[in-house]
Amino acid sequence: MILPITLYGDPVLRKVAEDIDLKYEGLSELIENMFESMYNAEGVGLAAPQVGLSIRIFVVDLSPLEKDEPSLAGFRKAFINAKILERSGDEELMEEGCLSIPGIHEEVYRKNFIRIQYLEPDGTPRDETYTGYTARVLQHEYDHLDGVMFTDHCSPLRKRLLKRRLTEISKGITNASYRVKVPKM
Ligand code: NI
Repeated sequence: MILPITLYGDPVLRKVAEDIDLKYEGLSELIENMFESMYNAEGVGLAAPQVGLSIRIFVVDLSPLEKDEPSLAGFRKAFINAKILERSGDEELMEEGCLSIPGIHEEVYRKNFIRIQYLEPDGTPRDETYTGYTARVLQHEYDHLDGVMFTDHCSPLRKRLLKRRLTEISKGITNASYRVKVPKM
């Protein structure tokens, strides 16, 4: 089932999300719905607050980037109760976008290396390290669990220039090709 994507300005995107119990009712269905909603919107990552749920789950599928980076073939994962334990390496600047902020793309600095612990949906604990673009996407999605949007990382000048557009998005003025949920005023 395709779920509507919460737009910038919805308070759920600003909350610190809660860890979940693996017995969370409908967990596997929710994860499948998140993947389906993400594919429908042509995204590579989606966090639970973006479908209105303040819980610590995000899904990522980087296989569309396989052409540029063959090691990403089949990279399709759900991250439950993730914790980033380390961020290090160089700060790299790269353009990002977000399904909750349709039409806006801005360059953001992120650390090049992360170590992340999480549970797979079947409860298997993982402790992994990632670099480069994968580390970037995981940090972007992880930010959503802490109420952080990628535009928060922009310079004060860029933020000022984006303000009007962000206000419009929060009123539902977007040309998103997927179903969105407009924040209640
Ligand atoms: Ni996002």
